[in-house]
Amino acid sequence: MTMASRACGFDFGTSNSAIGHAAGSDPKLIPLQDGRVSIPTAVFFSFEDASVTFGREAVSRYLQRENGRLMRSLKSVLGSSLIQELTQVGSNRLRFDQIIALFLSYVRDAADGPSSVVMGRPVHFVDGDEQADKNAEDQLRHAAQLAGFDHIEFQFEPIAAALDYERHVRAEELAFVVDIGGGTSDFSIVRVSPERRGKPNRKSDILAYSGVHIGGTDFDRRLELNAVLPDLGLGAKLRHKDMETPSWWYQDLATWQRINFLYDPKVFTDIRQVRRDMLEPEKLDRLLEVLENRKGHALLTAVEDVKIQLSTTNKVTMDLQDLAGIDPIDVTRKQFERAVADQIGQIDATIKTTLDQSHLTRGRYRLRVSHRRLIAHPAAAHDVAQDLRQGPHHRGRCVRLRRHGSRA
Ligand SMILES: Nc1ncnc2c1ncn2[C@@H]1O[C@H](COP(=O)(O)OP(=O)(O)OP(=O)(O)O)[C@@H](O)[C@H]1O
Ligand SMILES: [Mg+2]
Repeated sequence: MTMASRACGFDFGTSNSAIGHAAGSDPKLIPLQDGRVSIPTAVFFSFEDASVTFGREAVSRYLQRENGRLMRSLKSVLGSSLIQELTQVGSNRLRFDQIIALFLSYVRDAADGPSSVVMGRPVHFVDGDEQADKNAEDQLRHAAQLAGFDHIEFQFEPIAAALDYERHVRAEELAFVVDIGGGTSDFSIVRVSPERRGKPNRKSDILAYSGVHIGGTDFDRRLELNAVLPDLGLGAKLRHKDMETPSWWYQDLATWQRINFLYDPKVFTDIRQVRRDMLEPEKLDRLLEVLENRKGHALLTAVEDVKIQLSTTNKVTMDLQDLAGIDPIDVTRKQFERAVADQIGQIDATIKTTLDQSHLTRGRYRLRVSHRRLIAHPAAAHDVAQDLRQGPHHRGRCVRLRRHGSRA
């Protein structure tokens, strides 16, 4: 069988992506860049040499301050009105689905151009709107077709994760899959066992699955809005009227897929105009410095870094002198937790929905780690959890459920 005629599995993630194919009975992830099997979901359009680069190379070119446009969090655009919008990339104007297709095509090529694909999809691309959710899947299918795939199937990401986990179990167990990604948090409860592995129909083993459109990029946004952007004028009062600076500037600056909309001379003119009316104009000078030098992604990357550090430490000092001309800022874990409290509440509610759907909570099984502790202290899950994919970015966790009284 040639590589091209083989089916592959594609994890197109909000933050990171991977592709694998079935090598014999075992799936194998394909090295994409520098021998790594996962790359940032990122595309960079250089204005200097008109090249298009992907993944790690895209991010590094941007961070080396090459003149161009970085696109991240492309998956979050699916199901939203942005998908049809044109973005200026050098001399071209491209729609977001065309940009997604370029990325999918790059990864497909690295796997030697398979024609059939099973694409992972979150349980909900869009919350509470079935039509928008269906549109999102159709848009991803369309992008996959543009990228050269002929036969496209979808699998829910938390079910795919459970099936992957099943490859390693020695006896029947109930797996509670927790996949908190960049854009969505997805959960499933699946009966897994060596005997069930490979059976074509697993419907009766899937006890529950649920998801919510909240993930790490939402935490980045909240942290930036809370800890950094007030110093760039968010919420600042204007001199004469009882007015504040427009909040959409800051909402866009803290949203990966919208940052580029601010790199627009019209926006710069508006900011200069509002600046004249400010009690503290230096705040908008900093905002202009970030936008005119296209440092929005770098700023959000710095904030993401702080968020990650706060998983293991209680306080981080952010040095923003180079990025935004701000004195160092102390960010505490408490401050972060307060900024994302309602989002954590929604993730918690989704975990509860999943458990309720499975009818396990009141029945014979209970979670070894309570879902509250799981969310509050990711480390608490470690003794019963394993990373579903290798690598520093992957937050997928599988937690075994056990029968009351058993010591499994
Ligand atoms: N140690 C950490 N603590 C907190 N967050 C982390 C840590 N390491 C990575 N992250 C966050 O995890 C997210 C990326 O996770 P992952 O690669 O699983 O997402 P994804 O698969 O691309 O997204 P999705 O499945 O939602 O489409 C990013 O928001 C990143 O900041
Ligand atoms: Mg994911």
